[in-house]
Amino acid sequence: MVQVIDGKRIAASLINKVKTASAELQAQNGVRTGLAVIVVGDDPASHTYVSAKSRMAKECGFNSVQHTLPTETSQHDLATLVKMLNADEKIHGILVQLPLPKHLNSGPIIQSILPEKDVDGLNVVNAGKLATGDLETGLVSCTPAGAMLLIRLTHGEDLSGLNAVVIGRSNLFGRPMAQLLLNANATVTVAHSRTKNLPEVCRGADILVAAVGRPEMVRAYWVKRGATVIDVGITRIDAPERGEGKTRLVGDVAFAEVSEVSESITPVPGGVGPMTIAMLMANTVIAAHRTVGRPLKIFQA
Ligand code: GUN
Repeated sequence: MVQVIDGKRIAASLINKVKTASAELQAQNGVRTGLAVIVVGDDPASHTYVSAKSRMAKECGFNSVQHTLPTETSQHDLATLVKMLNADEKIHGILVQLPLPKHLNSGPIIQSILPEKDVDGLNVVNAGKLATGDLETGLVSCTPAGAMLLIRLTHGEDLSGLNAVVIGRSNLFGRPMAQLLLNANATVTVAHSRTKNLPEVCRGADILVAAVGRPEMVRAYWVKRGATVIDVGITRIDAPERGEGKTRLVGDVAFAEVSEVSESITPVPGGVGPMTIAMLMANTVIAAHRTVGRPLKIFQA
């Protein structure tokens, strides 16, 4: 029987730890954890994600600040807002929701976030720390950190001797995911749109992580019997079988057929998704603790 990994339950337990940690920091050090989330433009998916992040921050007892800026915001005005939040002592985490509208250059904006407030782990300082195996002093990108926690709960701390294949090489997910797996001693392959014989490469994986954004691309014949499959994709597709105009969310993995061959699998929704938000809260409370010299290791990827 396949084990369906319950990301919702695991995320809820992580959120409870975040709540305790933030309450302790406030009681013992008088510091209320602060998270600022910036969203520019009117992309509906971005607004849904950002509202969920702001809501969860409030639920964790944080000072939760959301900046909603119009599409025509200038590079200069966005940079000025990040500068102001960098200087704001009440804010411990800053997140600029991606993608930004086309006329804005996200690179300099992301890199201008102070590394110690970069709860998305996208600043080159944090990416570099992860790439050099320093998991103690930086901040790790939330989705890979969340996926890694699910993998650790399935396989333990040490992935020695296991082959991991990550499909996708983005800075937000694929690259940091590969670094985390490598750090846990897995033998890691990063596959992407230019990879030849992708199904064959995937069949070599004991741990297969898919993050491409192509609905149900990973089929059963791509998956080794007994593998762990982590599905990071989430796409809304039409579902006429549910009635006219209805839609449903699917991942990058053809869940029903892959469940027949894999040992463990994350569902969509309810797998990696809830872990992303939980890890964002964890990163923020970690960043807040560091400002008073209290290291907080319990959530570390
Ligand atoms: N857009 C989609 N996922 C993310 C994320 O994890 N962080 C940011 N900043 N933008 C995103």
